[in-house]
Amino acid sequence: MSWWKEAVFYHIYPRSFNDSNDDGVGDLAGIISKMDYLQWLGVDAIWLSPIFPSPMADFGYDVSDFQGIDPLFGDMKTFDKLLAEAHRRGIKVVLDQICHNVSSRHPWFLESKESRTNSKADWFIWHDPGEEGGPPNNWLSFFSGKKPESAWEWVPERGQYYLHLFSKDQCDLNLRNPDVQRALELVLRFWLEKGVDGFRLDSVSVYFKDPSLHDYPKRSVPYEPSSFSALSQYYVDINLERPENLLALERIRAITDEYKPERVTVGESASEKGILAYLDISGPGRLNLAFNFEFLNTVGLDARANYEVLRRTEELFDTRAWPCYVYGHHDGSRFLSRILGEDMTQRKPVAKLMAAFLLTLRGTPFIYYGEELGMVNTPVPFDRLVDPFGKAIWPAPGRDVARTPMQWNNSQYCGFSEVEPWLPVNTGDLETNVAHEQQDRFSVLSFYRSMLGVRKQRPELRYGGVRLYEPVGQAMEYERYTDSSRLTVVLNFADRPQPVDRFGTTAVVIGTHRKTGERIAGDLLLQPYEAIVLSPVATEV
Ligand code: NOJ
Repeated sequence: MSWWKEAVFYHIYPRSFNDSNDDGVGDLAGIISKMDYLQWLGVDAIWLSPIFPSPMADFGYDVSDFQGIDPLFGDMKTFDKLLAEAHRRGIKVVLDQICHNVSSRHPWFLESKESRTNSKADWFIWHDPGEEGGPPNNWLSFFSGKKPESAWEWVPERGQYYLHLFSKDQCDLNLRNPDVQRALELVLRFWLEKGVDGFRLDSVSVYFKDPSLHDYPKRSVPYEPSSFSALSQYYVDINLERPENLLALERIRAITDEYKPERVTVGESASEKGILAYLDISGPGRLNLAFNFEFLNTVGLDARANYEVLRRTEELFDTRAWPCYVYGHHDGSRFLSRILGEDMTQRKPVAKLMAAFLLTLRGTPFIYYGEELGMVNTPVPFDRLVDPFGKAIWPAPGRDVARTPMQWNNSQYCGFSEVEPWLPVNTGDLETNVAHEQQDRFSVLSFYRSMLGVRKQRPELRYGGVRLYEPVGQAMEYERYTDSSRLTVVLNFADRPQPVDRFGTTAVVIGTHRKTGERIAGDLLLQPYEAIVLSPVATEV
């Protein structure tokens, strides 16, 4: 069994995890000093959002050198140490790889913009003005705010526009150019040879663009941006999920497959169509994993909706590809805020219920840092916003609210730093932090840790099959099984008791409301937001 199928990943946003040098921004040494925490928690792999040199126009997703470390985060020696410290503890390290664009200050772009004849002249997507002297077509930037903004930026030196599907500081690479492909291949090999365990591939949905440069066909809905997907609601985005993406992904997979021990490739795709195309499901040699973002939209206290996501995923993936579930990430609200809105009275039971759900699913789960504490969005006032997209869509919550510092303790800056951090810390809540929760065996953190422990011990949860049952009211039930054993998971997504029947005699393996070992025979009345993992017990005579 491949390690990445059995692993639980933990997504670290390095700017916000731990600040070792008190400059207000998290760094690699900070992560190293929390490696014991990660091991104690029981995660198997970490994915680091970009740590490469960057002008930080998109907080690291605008890379100016793919083979270095931004001084804000440390240096290559510190990265090597991080890798060694993680590996020493059996934790894998996955990096973010951005193949679709580079910073406008990357040497590749600086050279390319100089003239139409230099050696990198064709490394980006350059075009002459359109008929009216403006941008070549109506393509928009995903970072468009209340007003749609063109995805083209004028460069007087070349007398041409370049394409940027994200901010104008992120210039789209021309992946059709073999020299660009070779340059990116060298980048991948550089990190693979260092021993990183794989890549999370940023924005695979937009690697290739429509070469015809046709306008986006317009849909008949009003333009109301509040997330990246707003653009696709307004336009038919002919740059999303182009078939040419597959060639690049197959090449990336072929490269990572050359390395031993096995490396992983995780695609960030925007749609079900993308996910299905990019995985082995559609042909051999594609990506190992692609985030199933379904739960970013639908996860909630709704047994039927959650059941439908699982049913559909199981039907589509079957044994041909491995699901990969995510509740939250650095591009949107924290999942508890999304589910609960302003009313946080049920935050803890809901966090535990959702932990039990995520960690009993068939597939590889990703935990976004702080989810294990029950962290919620931190309010960020307009004058503290830093994310360009967040500023553009204000007062919609944007992305900064979910990128605020990890809450280590209840000191002034939550133990993240000794100085005011780059984003506000959530100081209103003195209990949602590692120090407090480690002392409390009923905390969200303790529950996550126990769940991770159970998942590690039980093959049924790590790689077993799944048998889903139709939800009854808000109660959901499924079995996880191997050839020789099975577990039953029951979850109550309601704030009121829910009866569940059809049980033989079972023992609680782990539960939010019951003790491990407790026996349950016959019908069961689930408490509000209760989750239980049950193991069958031979009936005593
Ligand atoms: C997807 C990343 O997750 C997001 O943070 C970034 O802004 C875009 N790609 C552009 O690189």
